Amino acid sequence: MMERETDYEQEAENLRMAGSAFSEEEGIVVPRVFPEFSTRRVLTMEYIDGVHLDRFLASKPSQTLRDQFGHKISLSVLRLDHGKRLMYADPQPGNYLFMPDGRLGFIDFGCCSHHSDEFLECLVDAERAYLEAPEDLRDVIARINELTPKQAGDDARMELLVRFVHWAWEPIVHEGPFDFSDPDYFRRGVELYGDTLRRRYTRSQPPNTCLIKCMYGLRAMLNRLEARVDIGSIYRTERSRGSRQPRKPAPPSA
Ligand SMILES: Nc1ncnc2c1ncn2[C@@H]1O[C@H](COP(=O)(O)OP(=O)(O)OP(=O)(O)O)[C@@H](O)[C@H]1O
Ligand SMILES: [Mg+2]
Repeated sequence: MMERETDYEQEAENLRMAGSAFSEEEGIVVPRVFPEFSTRRVLTMEYIDGVHLDRFLASKPSQTLRDQFGHKISLSVLRLDHGKRLMYADPQPGNYLFMPDGRLGFIDFGCCSHHSDEFLECLVDAERAYLEAPEDLRDVIARINELTPKQAGDDARMELLVRFVHWAWEPIVHEGPFDFSDPDYFRRGVELYGDTLRRRYTRSQPPNTCLIKCMYGLRAMLNRLEARVDIGSIYRTERSRGSRQPRKPAPPSA
């Protein structure tokens, strides 16, 4: 992770990839890179004129404006995940700029993870198990966390992980806009994660670190914004047009 965060050529590449992911109407601005002034150790990009979350909230923005920014922040993460196989692991107040014209500045692409084929397959299987085949959920959880057979057979551990998965999906399967200002929702998530840490249920695949950071970072941002976002609808759109297509069945052998 340290090497990844300090590789500015990689960060420039991530910036380019992210920049190509959004249309002008979507109002999400990723700064352009100036390659002629960039090296492995120096990254030069376009300046984005905007304020951080605290300053934005101090201006007492309307609910509508907070909801619109909440929508953009959610889309910023889901578009890269589904459309570019890129997990943006750092959705936190330092990395979003609220622009005066209502657009969202989206910066800092050092902490990202590119989905490998294997991890993508796990994600697709996890989505399918959760949405369509709950009987497979425990198996997928065991796989995505690389649990040993003994760990996978530990009912207390599995029960906690299943609760965690339900918590993560709650806003997405919710009908219509989800109210992220609900303090109970965020607190439950923090308690669940605290429980997994206290019980040392920490075994996982490395990309899951990014996934968890992304999951909590996004929910924390939306909670502070007190935004209401139909994240289920964003998810369904991005899923249907994105790169996370289910595996094709193997062609019949001759
Ligand atoms: N293109 C930009 N336009 C305007 N402000 C920027 C831009 N890039 C960075 N900043 C400002 O500098 C701050 C820090 O930049 P950045 O988030 O890239 O690095 P960091 O968070 O300190 O480091 P790390 O990449 O390790 O997280 C941002 O929160 C923002 O205020
Ligand atoms: Mg930053």
